[in-house]
Amino acid sequence: MLISQGVFAQSENVAVTRYDNALEIFHPVRASGGMVASEQVLASQVGADILQQGGNAIDAAVAVGFALAVVLPNAGNLGGGGFMLVREAKSASTYALDFRETAPSAATREMFLNDSGQVIPGKSTRTPYSVAVPGTVAGLTFAAKQYGSLPLARLLAPAIKLAEDGFIVSPVLAQQFSLQRKHLERWPSTKEVFFKRLPDSVDCILSECPSSSLTTYSAGERLLQPDLARTLRTIARLGADGFYKGEIAKRIVDTLSSTTRPMSLSDLEQYRVAQREPVKGIYRGVEVLSMPAPSSGGVHLIQMLNMLEGFPLSEYGAGSAQTIHLIAESARLAYADRAEYLGDPDFVKVPQRGLTSKVYANRLSANIQQNRATLSKQVRAGPAGDFESEQTTHFSVMDRMGNVVSCTYTLNLNFGSGIVARGTGVLLNNEMDDFSAKPGAPNAFGLLGGSANAIEPGKRPLSSMSPVIMLKDGQPWIATGTPGGARIITTVLQIILNTIDFKMNIAEALSMPRVHHQWMPDYLRIERGISPDTIQLLKDKGHEVRVMPTMGRVQTVQQQGHMFFGASDPRNPDGAAIGIESMQ
Ligand code: DON
Repeated sequence: MLISQGVFAQSENVAVTRYDNALEIFHPVRASGGMVASEQVLASQVGADILQQGGNAIDAAVAVGFALAVVLPNAGNLGGGGFMLVREAKSASTYALDFRETAPSAATREMFLNDSGQVIPGKSTRTPYSVAVPGTVAGLTFAAKQYGSLPLARLLAPAIKLAEDGFIVSPVLAQQFSLQRKHLERWPSTKEVFFKRLPDSVDCILSECPSSSLTTYSAGERLLQPDLARTLRTIARLGADGFYKGEIAKRIVDTLSSTTRPMSLSDLEQYRVAQREPVKGIYRGVEVLSMPAPSSGGVHLIQMLNMLEGFPLSEYGAGSAQTIHLIAESARLAYADRAEYLGDPDFVKVPQRGLTSKVYANRLSANIQQNRATLSKQVRAGPAGDFESEQTTHFSVMDRMGNVVSCTYTLNLNFGSGIVARGTGVLLNNEMDDFSAKPGAPNAFGLLGGSANAIEPGKRPLSSMSPVIMLKDGQPWIATGTPGGARIITTVLQIILNTIDFKMNIAEALSMPRVHHQWMPDYLRIERGISPDTIQLLKDKGHEVRVMPTMGRVQTVQQQGHMFFGASDPRNPDGAAIGIESMQ
């Protein structure tokens, strides 16, 4: 736990918290010169090296983003999209970069339905139609140009080296390759990248080998990605144009085309990053900044915080049945609004101001009963169970100058669509599944939606990704975020409650067992580690409680005075927070 005189003693205008080693079980990494936290130690090291070389937090974040595309191929990406919050020291302002994928121009509202209006299983997740126009390369290069200080080629160099020289596959990644083998071997272009020929197998070129002659990479083996290295080199030379125009763009379009052409060259050429205003809330005096629509994350995070502010959570305690009940009840209300109102604000009117207002939250929370779970309407549960692993990724960076980056990006599901654009090493997303295929039909995360999130050409699918930057007295305090699909918003919520209400250090905050409710399907999902008597109290209140796999892989960095702290979620042993010392 954190201790200090009061918890957050003020020194001049910067909040200072002293840590007491004797009281803490989990410890953050500490350093004086800057901090990077990501889901892959090699990528975190890339970011720390860039800081060490004098790059700022944005430089480091961009380099991490490109490196993760190499070393975390199931979530890190060039062929996906995401959101980046940048706190710029120079302007003392926070910017929200939206590089979410867009629906191609050939997309239609009913594209995932059959003639009788039923959703065609798998079409929005495993086919060329599942791929939305990627935004990552535009987003990362935009951030570097706008807020970075080093040349783009310097930021891409570490990723190019990792792709060219290869890196050692971890047990976690080897398991992902093996679990997703069927998903990946459907595409000849993907076989070329992520499979090896078995010794003594028939002589064949990888893309044409029968499955019986192939194997995935094991832990300890070196994975080289020469095609991806070439693609990264092209981007280093030509910037985003190297990806969105010319040979790479042509290969993406050609790989997806057969009798039809789901994506066109002009879809790629016309892709643009959107600069948006972050959504803001104040929770017990701390400023919380996050991503606006087309993410639902920031809006509902702030909505839930506003509802919970009226309850004395610190008295109830972390992990108590009362606290969990209130988290579940506020989530139930917020996710019901999500299904109704949220979509791409460039296409539909999203009542963001209302949803994040304290007055509205008070109206909603007045109906929360302290001792009784509300019933969500009965609906068909989604196939959420098929998609348990966390296949988005988050990274957070802080530098000594006061710049902060909080970035979540994704291919959507594990390895996205599973389709590598031929000869480029670029895995393509299946983000089209985040649209509502039809009202009442759940997506892969069991989430419902209506016309606000219906498919339209050029529109961005609704997201739950919730990168967060928190400020105290106007100064950067914490940057955090996580993968986890629908569970991202509640996971980030709990990190905020753990640090603010329960005064935990950031390592403890992300180690605590988590809970989740999303209105529909109507059950309270919990991780192992919540006690049986707490579960009984929750059942007594009327909750259906289900213990399920872990949720989220949070990456947090924090600044307290002149010290930086970092913590990478123990749920992923491959992650790491790495700090640098200030230069003398
Ligand atoms: O944007 C979204 O909300 C989803 N595409 C994120 C997917 C995700 O987090 C996958 N990990 N479980």
